[in-house]
Amino acid sequence: MFSNTLARTAPCGPGFINHTAMKNCKKALLLALPLLCAAYDATGAQRLIEITDKYLHIPVSHSCDRVRISLSADGMEAMPVNVRIAAGAPDYWVFKDVSALKGKILTITYPDGLKGIDSIRQASVIPDADIIYKETNRPQYHFTTRRGWINDPNGLIYLDGEYHLFYQHNPYERDWENMHWGHAVSPDLLHWTELPTALHPDSIGTMFSGSAVMDYGNDSGFGTTDTPAMVVAYTAETGERQVQCIAYSLDHGRTFTKYAANPVIDSKEKWNSRDTRDPKLLRYGDHWVMVLNERDGHSFYTSTNLRDWTYKSHIVGFWECPDLFELPVDGDPANTMWVLYGASGTYMLGDFDGERFTPRSGKHCYARGTLYAAQTFSNIPAADGRRIQMAWSRIGHPGMNFNGMMLLPTELSLRTTKDGVRLVSVPVKEVEGLCTSVGKWSDLSQSEANAVMEPFASADRLRIRATLKLSHATDGRITLAGQNLLDYDLNGNTVNGWFYSPQDPTSTEISADIYIDRTSVEVFVDGGLHSFSMPRHLPAGKREGFLFHGNNVTVRSLEVFDVASVWK
Ligand code: FRU
Repeated sequence: MFSNTLARTAPCGPGFINHTAMKNCKKALLLALPLLCAAYDATGAQRLIEITDKYLHIPVSHSCDRVRISLSADGMEAMPVNVRIAAGAPDYWVFKDVSALKGKILTITYPDGLKGIDSIRQASVIPDADIIYKETNRPQYHFTTRRGWINDPNGLIYLDGEYHLFYQHNPYERDWENMHWGHAVSPDLLHWTELPTALHPDSIGTMFSGSAVMDYGNDSGFGTTDTPAMVVAYTAETGERQVQCIAYSLDHGRTFTKYAANPVIDSKEKWNSRDTRDPKLLRYGDHWVMVLNERDGHSFYTSTNLRDWTYKSHIVGFWECPDLFELPVDGDPANTMWVLYGASGTYMLGDFDGERFTPRSGKHCYARGTLYAAQTFSNIPAADGRRIQMAWSRIGHPGMNFNGMMLLPTELSLRTTKDGVRLVSVPVKEVEGLCTSVGKWSDLSQSEANAVMEPFASADRLRIRATLKLSHATDGRITLAGQNLLDYDLNGNTVNGWFYSPQDPTSTEISADIYIDRTSVEVFVDGGLHSFSMPRHLPAGKREGFLFHGNNVTVRSLEVFDVASVWK
């Protein structure tokens, strides 16, 4: 499912940093230099910059190979990264917020003779800040990063009125590399403000996926009971193994301190596999649980202090990005089940005793298409009580200086269906606040429905809620510019190619809530019993608009909403 622009190379191990070629620089000389306070030492293997401004700007060219450089400063651990520094005209500039280093000397260590290193400069602003969020292919109501690559959501947590979205991020390029944890906060899951990078590569490795919890009891000793620590667990990818590490923040995720005795788990030999990653933390009774993907499934570890972990059990059949949570069935708190899933959207339902997951049913699939590596928020207040999920959408943004996006946040619940208990996913109620109804109709013929949709043919952002009634056991479809948004085949019982049978198996109706953004389409069928997402085709030239197709299909109900942009 990865499109070209989303192709990821194999994780790359620490390359060389030619420490022996480094020379000590003379701070006095440096401070005297006018041009951005930048200077070279005698060999040219280091560039020293006195940080006076908020941003460091780095020119990027995709026609240049990646080179290994390292950024370091007093009181900051060295940050090794692989960067395509433009030797000539850049394709675009990336920026790094260095405000925390103001007044310090930043040392950039690089291979001798590297062209373009002298173009790196500082500024108090992002020069093209006014075009960010206004680019042609910028999703208008989904989270994207200002610049660079994103994949999995990480460390999703709510705290004191803020939702925190950490995410796999390459701030140095629009392709996958140099995994950092990017960070954004939102009061409502929709309007996000990007903050400086939360975790950056270090001497152990790059920062792969993980999760966050609040340690209210100060079990870790990282905080106090008055100032509890936000503790994150993440995988450090060393190049030849994947180890689990922890870090904590005492300032609402603004800065993190990595645990000095990292890694806390190194299980490559146990599994004879380097695939051991993506720790998901949760609290169970009097202890902490870490669900970790290892080789062929998810393992369960326990701890009383978030630092020392004991292996307990393993269940086969999952790959990457675990999550585990308990949900009431049909809203009944006396009847709950545990949901265990992996990155692809397949899940098992069962029991969890704090150490072992025992499946009762599965596997099932709650979402198809571009969804990947979804995670749910921790620390949602009991008064809210929702299980809120965000997922990476594997949709590329060719030609843009950013790449990748998150799907809409959804609320998950368990519902009894004709097939048994199933996970249901619908956009969170906050999304309603972006939607303004611009027309509502009922019992339209196909040609009437096509006519009412005509004015929306080139809409950027739209939500369409429709119920179709088929008169023949063939297909009913809604297309946009020839692309099937909804394609229901009552003969094959498929929706957009995936098996689907409505709750009343004799029904000839299907309802869909369709969210269209600039580059994506998300569809929630029959109240979220089945959902899927896809890239929106952006054909050059004329737009065909929306069309209803099928053998005498009736549009029982139709409502169209404008969806407000979240970028002001
Ligand atoms: C899933 C994943 C994770 C890993 C991360 C690296 O997309 O492969 O397993 O931690 O991406 O970016």
